[in-house]
Amino acid sequence: MALPDVTVDLTTDRGVFSHDGVDTGTKLLLLEAPPPSSSGDVLDLGCGYGAITVVLARRAPGATVWAVDVNERARALAAENAASLENVRVCAPDEVPDDVRFSTIWSNPPIRIGKAALHDLLARWLGRLTPDGSAVLVVQKHLGSDSLATWLGGEGFTVERLRSRLGYRLLEVRCAP
Ligand SMILES: C[S@@+](CC[C@H](N)C(=O)[O-])C[C@H]1O[C@@H](n2cnc3c(N)ncnc32)[C@H](O)[C@@H]1O
Repeated sequence: MALPDVTVDLTTDRGVFSHDGVDTGTKLLLLEAPPPSSSGDVLDLGCGYGAITVVLARRAPGATVWAVDVNERARALAAENAASLENVRVCAPDEVPDDVRFSTIWSNPPIRIGKAALHDLLARWLGRLTPDGSAVLVVQKHLGSDSLATWLGGEGFTVERLRSRLGYRLLEVRCAP
């Protein structure tokens, strides 16, 4: 994958999301998201084979990047793709220590798990943002990006639509002041 600031080689495999090439929404996030926090802990929620993880780790070498996924094969591929990056921790969700708080979260979240499960997932992890931290989520418009933004607002987060392109919305989510 070639971005203006970083080029990465990624190993993928059948059975993981977008194994035939980096997803269009993921690429939009990587092209358009504001720079991640340069220190502290940052999270790739639902890391898949690690496309977001490796870019976060390269752009924020002073931060610890947590790559979290429920899919064991995805975690194995993410670990392989991040093998040369010392600031990456690849984990199952329950392996992240409870006291870790994230200054940046980037995610192409698993919309297809259903609304209730998605809401539980986002409440769990967005609730672990630091007070001045922010999350960037990429969500397809036809898969409910606008209703998700409305729900997040109702949960007490501030949501800004950073970009709308190629059928995707890029949402920046912060804890309300
Ligand atoms: C849309 S894919 C994005 C994958 C990768 N970040 C990318 O951009 O190519 C969402 C990922 O979330 C993972 N996932 C699903 N449920 C999850 C959960 N409860 N906790 C963490 N990850 C989950 C899936 O296994 C999948 O890899």
